[in-house]
Amino acid sequence: MVEVPWVSIEMLPQYVGKKVEIRGWLANKRSSGKIAFLILRDGTGFLQATAFAGEHFDSEEVKNLKRIPLESSLIVQGRVKEEKRAIGGYELELEKVEIISEAEDYPIQKKEHSIEFLMENRHLWLRSRKQNAILRVRNQVIMAIHHFFQERGFTLIDPPILTPAACEGTTTLFALDYFDLGKAYLSQSGQLYMEAACMAFGKVYCLAPTFRAEKSKTRRHLTEFWMVEPEVAFYNWEDNMELQEEFVSFVVQTVLEKCPRELEVLERDLKPLERVVPPFPRISYDEALRILNRKGFRIEWGNDFGGDEETAISEEFDRPVFIHHYPKKVKAFYMQPDPENPELVLNDDLIAPEGYGEIIGGSERIHDLNLLKERIKEHHLPEEVFDWYLDLRRFGSCPHSGFGLGVERTVAWICGIHHIREAIPFPRQIYRLYP
Ligand code: 4AD
Repeated sequence: MVEVPWVSIEMLPQYVGKKVEIRGWLANKRSSGKIAFLILRDGTGFLQATAFAGEHFDSEEVKNLKRIPLESSLIVQGRVKEEKRAIGGYELELEKVEIISEAEDYPIQKKEHSIEFLMENRHLWLRSRKQNAILRVRNQVIMAIHHFFQERGFTLIDPPILTPAACEGTTTLFALDYFDLGKAYLSQSGQLYMEAACMAFGKVYCLAPTFRAEKSKTRRHLTEFWMVEPEVAFYNWEDNMELQEEFVSFVVQTVLEKCPRELEVLERDLKPLERVVPPFPRISYDEALRILNRKGFRIEWGNDFGGDEETAISEEFDRPVFIHHYPKKVKAFYMQPDPENPELVLNDDLIAPEGYGEIIGGSERIHDLNLLKERIKEHHLPEEVFDWYLDLRRFGSCPHSGFGLGVERTVAWICGIHHIREAIPFPRQIYRLYP
């Protein structure tokens, strides 16, 4: 007997006219007289499978197929046909259906559900077509991140998650008791460890979860998110921006190439993504302030920008835009002051187009021991926990730069979805810890 091959739905174009086995779930169904139309999904795609009364089923069996509850798991066999009008462009003429597990009444229906309900059922909502497309894009974004850095000679260095000190300000720290050693904090950023690693490996990056006890309930904030953080010895802030624009362009172009079907499901307008190629426009903080005040904002010099301001600036450009040289007082302690105006720092934020806000924060780091000590003091940070970090300035210090790109904000932008919570499998927010 010839074995029927078990194939995935995305592989079907290679099997037209052949008999295959599909293992998956019943995503939807439709009946029309004597035919049962089953819409199957297997994680790689959706497929219409049809059963007629005739050679393989009698009419009672077809009737029973129509009764299978949604989300039951099935193993089916049949012949693959091209069918332009069917979902995905192929159809399976069923010859055999085996129910593996009949599902109970499935809570997610075709009707509109509230976002709270869908989030409560996130473990099931992941099965929907749109959520599947978003997380498959996320998968490609993460693969593209690794490709980009690996091909350029960066070494992946994993940072610790339990840390002794703050990196990005003390107001968003998650603290926990750590045995006899007092408090530990969930990492806000792997940066300080990447600085140590770049002095050992030259070019490094990490891709790791980071945590911020953000009180904000905006569409751009999670309490747990993933960040990719490269760090390069002997790079200055301008080298750093060049790396960022090449990197972001590579990630976007990779998704365009690898995920056309997913972007179609998401009804993403591709034109703004196709424009994401270097060079990106660069404006200073002062120029950004002028744009904002011209657009009716009233922001005093020295204040940071929030989501509304970032959106207003992004409207002026057709691709991501760098804002550089922020006032020192609104930025982190480790940023190198501008030698021409020490009230400013050699940093940049990269603002995504179409109102998606800041996706990157980066800077040249302070490499002078005494200046760094001074800044730690000004920020009221305990010097002793940074002693190891100060060592990097004691033993062969050099100018170096790096940045952090938020994975979820990037995925949300590329997918064109409104809220960051759908860009991560199981989002953590101030009001959500379940499932
Ligand atoms: O600008 P941030 O705070 O930079 C750092 O953490 C640096 N230590 C990175 C570095 O230089 N190595 O954060 C970087 C990016 C932001 O641009 C944003 O994309 C993302 O991390 N991000 C968040 N994403 C989701 N939820 C939050 N609460 C986020 N906070 C920051």
